[in-house]
Amino acid sequence: MSNRVVIGSQWGDEGKAKIVDFLTLDADVIVRFQGGANAGHTVEVGDQKFVFHLIPSGIMHKDKMCVIGNGVVLDPIQTLLEIEDIRQKKLNPEGRLLIANNAHVVLPWHTTVDKLKEEKAGEKAIGTTGRGIGPCYSDKVNRIGVRVGDLLDEKELRPRIENMAKIHNKEFEKMFNAPPIDPEKVIRDYLDLGKKIAPYVADVSEYLFHSLKEGKKLIFEGAQGTILDVDQGTYPFVTSSNTVAGYASCGAGVGPKAIDQVFGVVKAYTTRVGNGPFPTELNDELGEELRRIGNEFGATTGRNRRCGWFDAPVARKAAIVNGLTHLAITKLDVLATFDEIKVCTHYECDGKKVDLIPNQLSKVGRCMPVYETLPGWGSDISGCRSWDELPKLAQDYLIRLSELVGVKIGIVSVGPKRDQTMVVDLN
Ligand code: GDP
Ligand code: IMO
Ligand code: MG
Repeated sequence: MSNRVVIGSQWGDEGKAKIVDFLTLDADVIVRFQGGANAGHTVEVGDQKFVFHLIPSGIMHKDKMCVIGNGVVLDPIQTLLEIEDIRQKKLNPEGRLLIANNAHVVLPWHTTVDKLKEEKAGEKAIGTTGRGIGPCYSDKVNRIGVRVGDLLDEKELRPRIENMAKIHNKEFEKMFNAPPIDPEKVIRDYLDLGKKIAPYVADVSEYLFHSLKEGKKLIFEGAQGTILDVDQGTYPFVTSSNTVAGYASCGAGVGPKAIDQVFGVVKAYTTRVGNGPFPTELNDELGEELRRIGNEFGATTGRNRRCGWFDAPVARKAAIVNGLTHLAITKLDVLATFDEIKVCTHYECDGKKVDLIPNQLSKVGRCMPVYETLPGWGSDISGCRSWDELPKLAQDYLIRLSELVGVKIGIVSVGPKRDQTMVVDLN
């Protein structure tokens, strides 16, 4: 088996966690490498359902190692809540969860400023998850951040928090007329949190280096999706990290040659949560129907997900910027009752054919989706377990998606549970 990256290839919530959970059956170590508690990753096994925000979805498998890499922005409070939750569910994390000592920490200034900025932006708001992601990455790049390792040593933590308080409390007062946050309280609280996460803190890059040397098999679990990538997405309506496959290497501290296969997860249709352009969005009854049947409500914020038809220019862009080797197509079962299913094959913009979602927001706004209509198969496929069991029209639909994106199908998912998954080609 190969080392694999699993990447969202639309606007997030494609079902990455479900695919990671399935592929973990053949892996040893599962690594989150970017994003933070903005992610909501759902895994269903038997009658148990878990939603992870920071802990890799592989934790469901009791004998696997799970790693949070340096590219993640870590909220220690959320991490401890998740650790407690998985403990209660008898999935003991001790000895099999590692957190990078050089991952940055989400602090109260970050979550507060995230919310204040969004409130102030009014109609221009990004629609963030309010988890402090953008402000934390911003401090990281600005070289004033706090890292996980700092929480274990007051000598490291104190000057950094004092500096951060100076900068951000001034910003709070001037820009938002908001009360300051007491740095002494933050130091006390975060040293305490540091003590609690200390058993998990490690040099993750070193651990992964040895794991690779020993021939262990790795899965890198992407969060968000390619069109939310800070460079490749619909900027500024994006998240604040690189969500693409290339970042697995940076965000975990392994060389790029460690990665053999890149799985792009796509829904059989498209959803987006938060604001920003969405060319194939259905603002009608069909969109409502997709939301209802697909249960399209955010796993982190509970917000309605916007729904629309499959958008090939989006998935094609993901194929290119990630170097996808396989598609994992999820939620095919949701389309069972549709008589006709539309697929956007390309856009028309300023009288020209456009095959990839453009980088410029204004150009995306001028793109008109061009659709092809395919017949629905009209039957419940949630019990199908192999390609041959799928109705011919469902197979045709999948083949057409794969042709349009230019990537072969690796996995098809027909329900939320682990066993509602079929392998098509993992080579
Ligand atoms: P992620 O963020 O990409 O891991 O995806 P989320 O967990 O946010 O959202 C995907 C949702 O779809 C979850 O509720 C999953 O349980 C569910 N899901 C995943 N695959 C399938 C599928 O093939 N069919 C159906 N009906 N639900 C699925
Ligand atoms: P998973 O990993 C879907 C969206 C937010 C908003 C934008 C910026 O579950 O697929 P942020 O809080 O990151 O600054 O918000 O990105 N967003 C997601 N949408 N799935 C996610 O994660 C998301 N994480 C962030 O809705 O539009
Ligand atoms: Mg999600």
